Amino acid sequence: MKNEVLRFLREQEEYLSGEEISRRLGISRTAVWKQINTLKKEGYEIASQTRIGYRLISVPDRLYPEEIQKQLRTNLVGRNMIYRERVDSTNILARQTGETGFVDGTVILAEEQTAGKGRLGRVWHSPMGTGINMSLLLRPAIPVSDAAKITLLTGAAVARGLEEITGLKIGIKWPNDLQIQGKKVSGILTEIKADMDQIHYLIVGIGINVNEQDFPEELRETATSLHMEVGRQVSRIETAAVVLNHWEEIYQRFLTQGFTVVREEWKQYAVTLGKEVHVRTINETIHGQALDIDEDGLLLVQDEDHQIHRIMAGDVTL
Ligand code: BTN
Repeated sequence: MKNEVLRFLREQEEYLSGEEISRRLGISRTAVWKQINTLKKEGYEIASQTRIGYRLISVPDRLYPEEIQKQLRTNLVGRNMIYRERVDSTNILARQTGETGFVDGTVILAEEQTAGKGRLGRVWHSPMGTGINMSLLLRPAIPVSDAAKITLLTGAAVARGLEEITGLKIGIKWPNDLQIQGKKVSGILTEIKADMDQIHYLIVGIGINVNEQDFPEELRETATSLHMEVGRQVSRIETAAVVLNHWEEIYQRFLTQGFTVVREEWKQYAVTLGKEVHVRTINETIHGQALDIDEDGLLLVQDEDHQIHRIMAGDVTL
């Protein structure tokens, strides 16, 4: 009902009377008034004039599914969305959702995460209402060994999206740190539930710093946000929609044409390749030149003894 009221207000440039809304929806004027109040509480700015009616003035920059969905061109991702004001982690909620029957392509969004998860056990800083915290819950018919490729294709999709939104050059530090001029603006955490031959579900967690204007001391040197880079407020709704549109386009290309095209796209954003790097893996630190990523998305590093290491997971520093 609330969404119908909203739709009517959107369609109407001038004031729309409460009576007209109540007639169209077959509900009482008081019921209309209640829906309007709910919308106002959600942050919609609605002017009301006695005996004239209501007019929509502005939409809040909240990650409301109906606002994002209006800008989606996708068939799969985001057709179903779950929204929370506050959650421990959208990846955790995605996992819980994955354990029940779920719609492929479900997107879980939250304004704030109290225990946002980063890679390698780190914490992802996700204060109220400033960034995009979202997890894609998928059931891809691909081999378990291909899951890492989804991380890379997501990096390319987010990079494309953020370039479109800001007009700035985005770089990717393997495997999935998105940077603007060397500072991290977004990260991706892919998690999987699978057995040997089948993926039950795959979660792609995407965190984007959008309107943060400062970071905690320990992140200040290394993190940035879109706002800090472009010097103005950036629409989180539009950013989320643009990223999801690119994501689905690249994902479909991956499913139909394979990883090679995705790999080429990813390489256009790569800031690590050709550079001297230190890679910290679980059991060692490798120092050498980052040569390329291979057909499986692994990083190839050549050390001083000309030995080539294929790295599946690790932390790269330049
Ligand atoms: C990283 O670069 O370390 C990965 C960060 C991933 C953060 C996102 S925010 C949405 C999703 N939920 C989480 O708890 N983490 C991911």
